[in-house]
Amino acid sequence: MMELISGFSKKPKEEKINWLVSTHLNNNPEAFKTLKQYWNNDTKLQKLHDGFIENTISNYYLPFAIAPNFLINNKPYTIPMVIEESSVVAAASYSAKFWLSKGGFTSEVISTVKNGQIHLNFYGNNIDIQQFFLKIKPILKSSISKIEKNMKKRGGGLIDIILKNTTETLKGYYQLHCTFETNDAMGANFINTCLETIAKAFENEAVNYKPFSKTNQFPEVAISILSNYVPECLVRAQVQCPVDELTAEGIEGKVFAKKFIRAIDIAKAEKRRAVTHNKGIMNGIDAVVLATGNDFRSVEAGIHAYASKDGNYTSLTHASVKDGIFKYSIEIPLALGTIGGLTGLHPLAKFGLSMLQNPSSKELMQIIAVAGLAQNFAALRALITTGIQKGHMKMHLMNILNNLNATISEKEKTVQYFEEHTITHSDVVTYINKLRN
Ligand code: MEV
Repeated sequence: MMELISGFSKKPKEEKINWLVSTHLNNNPEAFKTLKQYWNNDTKLQKLHDGFIENTISNYYLPFAIAPNFLINNKPYTIPMVIEESSVVAAASYSAKFWLSKGGFTSEVISTVKNGQIHLNFYGNNIDIQQFFLKIKPILKSSISKIEKNMKKRGGGLIDIILKNTTETLKGYYQLHCTFETNDAMGANFINTCLETIAKAFENEAVNYKPFSKTNQFPEVAISILSNYVPECLVRAQVQCPVDELTAEGIEGKVFAKKFIRAIDIAKAEKRRAVTHNKGIMNGIDAVVLATGNDFRSVEAGIHAYASKDGNYTSLTHASVKDGIFKYSIEIPLALGTIGGLTGLHPLAKFGLSMLQNPSSKELMQIIAVAGLAQNFAALRALITTGIQKGHMKMHLMNILNNLNATISEKEKTVQYFEEHTITHSDVVTYINKLRN
């Protein structure tokens, strides 16, 4: 039987590691060293990171990179990216350069409304709950006046509450659908606090509502939580150029455009391709979301749900040629913050935002949509021409060589050799062994 460990989170870091090493790692003496080499000598900085989550035992590094040459709405940007996958940053930089010479990207925020729901159980009369809601709506709204005071000063706050009868999807299921404007904050805490407060006010009022007591059917709050599906918090980014200027890898513009549009059509038609197509887009989006201290899980969940908004999971990007002009765009929901949360706490998230000149959350939406479009452009360009492995494995070769502790001279020789040969992990190992013998 596994032994329960209690009070674990209160133990000092060393004690936690000793426990882990003795119970899960066979007292391996290297284990402590591995963790400790990533501790920061600056104890204040280390304490800050320790405090982000519970039971921290070390720091997990990811590379923080920059992709220059982005022109967005005529403003130059160097975009911060945090990601482990080789060739993502190179791909972004390639696209930035490619489109810079054609006027750059344009991007616009379509809407910024966030939402959350108080999910209700109610098995009584529909008319009763509808009338009750109309009566108490002003009370629900004013129940959060203290909480939303500061947000209101900045032009945000609760927008509206509506009661939705969703009993056709689930018996006895109603919702209070609440919409919010949260300005430059992602707003998760604000929205959840508002929802929980409104939910309490709703239940308090329900107890004293006569028609409910008459039938002995009271509405009950099941859960109150924001939604990470934000189709009313939407941004679009696009590029365009005369089709003749779309030459890449020695392929004539018209042919390139045809192959490119076909690749998108395939992603529109086939879910298996669409998921990978969109994954490539998320390579760019997640990297900037992370570098600016935003919540990549909520962004991922919301964007993938949006990709299936019409019932079929499909491509997030679109391309066409009309009157000799190639147009290529992306439309995605993005709930981001440039104040609050980790953005002001994590020194590198702060840095990421400051190298973008401390954008508003709207501007950050535009930048991130562009990063997704750029990433998709580079991936499709490679896929319809040389294939992605050429560029990918070239970058990955360095990972393999570093893993084998190759010297500079070994690296130079190997890179030269594999200019002419297909890179596989085992061929690189064989080649290095040959060099060493
Ligand atoms: C790899 O991380 C991303 C790609 O698979 C995206 C795509 O296929 O479009 C190259």
